[in-house]
Amino acid sequence: EKGGYEHFMLKEIFEQPSVIKDTYRGRLLADQGIVRLGGLEDHIEKFINADRIIIVACGTSWHAGLVAEYIFEDLVRIPVEVEYASEFRYRNPIISEKDVVIAISQSGETADTLAAIKLAKSKGAFVYGVCNVVGSTISRETHSGTYTHAGPEIGVASTKAFTTQITVLAMMALRLAKAKGTISKPDYMLYLRELELIPTHVEEALKTDSKIEEISAVFKDARNFLYLGRGYNFPVALEGALKLKEISYIHAEGYPAAEMKHGPIALIDEQMPVVVIAIKSDHYDKVVSNIQEIKARKGKIIAVVSKGDTVVREMADYVMEVPHTPEALTPLVTTIPLQLLSYHIAVMLGRNVDQPRNLAKSVTVE
Ligand code: M6R
Repeated sequence: EKGGYEHFMLKEIFEQPSVIKDTYRGRLLADQGIVRLGGLEDHIEKFINADRIIIVACGTSWHAGLVAEYIFEDLVRIPVEVEYASEFRYRNPIISEKDVVIAISQSGETADTLAAIKLAKSKGAFVYGVCNVVGSTISRETHSGTYTHAGPEIGVASTKAFTTQITVLAMMALRLAKAKGTISKPDYMLYLRELELIPTHVEEALKTDSKIEEISAVFKDARNFLYLGRGYNFPVALEGALKLKEISYIHAEGYPAAEMKHGPIALIDEQMPVVVIAIKSDHYDKVVSNIQEIKARKGKIIAVVSKGDTVVREMADYVMEVPHTPEALTPLVTTIPLQLLSYHIAVMLGRNVDQPRNLAKSVTVE
């Protein structure tokens, strides 16, 4: 059942090209300029007239929510707030019928997310679910929603659920941007075509696996890791750090790269590996200067770079290459090498990759 892979996690990482396709199949027709999500079509007005979109989720699903915040604000121009479900539900939040809540959950059973949904509903908000497990409690408790179609995710560390959640959220943003008129026709068509190419790009990123295994061998005994990214890739840095923590038990922190100088830079010395997402984007030059600051303090740089990059390659100790895609879609590719890095390190340390200590696949306790 692991399809020849040593662990479910590895199988699920490698399934991503095909499950991302499953996620957009029949929903994204790039040539015809169509994005159509069954659960969304009847509620488009609700979304585009909303005062705010509030996203509630936990863990990796919360990271997907953060990526969605960037995409929605960028393309749909609706203010978005992303909340840990566990904080939202306990702090007497201000919500009304003018708000739309998106709840993201792989399992559809996470207790805190479910409680946040119930609270939002009780205040009159419209609640939309993005779940993977069909018929799950959250999919039933929400007013409408979209399934991710990632197939069963067995590994406790979420991988394909994350990329398929982002795929759904990107499709939602594109559909809503079109309805609201906040995206130009050429940009809209470009995004559709680029989204369709993501499985091919993920496939290509997966081909660097053996290189990433070599890098993993170099750093497996590090006690701490820092993960840095900016913009759309700040949530990817958080996700990379979470993945490493939960399966290898190595302490890792994700940070927006520019926050380094406000504290974490004090941690940098020759012992500290720093994973930097340094792909070609609007923030490229800024990330390059962040890398210089780390190098000046002898930190070890493992950089995720765009294919063909030369500048960062010169500066970094190790690079992991990903194909080029528009910035809003980059989390779908930059997250791949980080999944593989944490996987290989955990295997090398002899950890129970699919069932890390103290963790459960669905957290049904509050
Ligand atoms: O099933 P959910 O998406 O609601 O689960 C949320 C978190 O418990 C989950 O993402 C957790 O953080 C994973 N172990 C991360 O890999």
